Amino acid sequence: MRSAATDPVGFFDSGRGGLCVLEAFKRRLPRERTIYLADTAHCPYGNKPPEEIVARAKALTQELLAHRCKLIVVACNTATAAAIDVLRATWPDVPFVGMEPAVKPAVLRSKSGIVGVLATAGTFGGRLYRETCARFAKKTRILACVADDWVTLVERGETTGPRAEAAVRAYVEPLLAAGADHLVLGCTHFPHLKPLIEQVAAGRAAVLDPSDAVARQAERLLAERGLLVPAEGASVAKESGI
Ligand code: DGL
Repeated sequence: MRSAATDPVGFFDSGRGGLCVLEAFKRRLPRERTIYLADTAHCPYGNKPPEEIVARAKALTQELLAHRCKLIVVACNTATAAAIDVLRATWPDVPFVGMEPAVKPAVLRSKSGIVGVLATAGTFGGRLYRETCARFAKKTRILACVADDWVTLVERGETTGPRAEAAVRAYVEPLLAAGADHLVLGCTHFPHLKPLIEQVAAGRAAVLDPSDAVARQAERLLAERGLLVPAEGASVAKESGI
């Protein structure tokens, strides 16, 4: 099946986390049509065995392809860690974009040489995270912090208020106390708590969210393949040879 520029871009996540990636994409490319699948019946992914995540990622991809998606964004760090290699091998003609914790920019900008990464157990257990740290964080101390209960909060829509603030403090304060001057959001649910995380870390650490970088990568791949929705009037001008 050949994709057309007017086909939609597909996104999936275990729940509402990946909506922040979708929003970043829509800000860059408001003309693109999109389909977002939230696998809430199987949420959370964070502590499920990789084989189970692979099976879910394949099922969701199949569904997005049935809707003719021209590119698929795996808007979930845990699913990227467990399944992106399998997805690319299973559908070699489909462009996939996955999540990558923003370890590299954090390491490059850190003055204290200590960086906190917040993600799920599944993401920390994956090859991608290990390789990224081995490649970019040779001289930096990386403090890995599993913050699974933030996923529950975000799924409940509880991103403000005393309970959310206490949950954010519980993970962020120890990272700050240990000297981290950058906090990497390595789970797509966490940017939903970014205002609160920034409030707690204010003046002590910068908070990095890779959503915009992922949206840029999706745009690059679409452009390379000539699959960006044409600007208004562009197809008319082409057809009429103007
Ligand atoms: N939003 C996902 C991630 O980026 C998964 C969170 C979960 O379901 O545990 O890792």
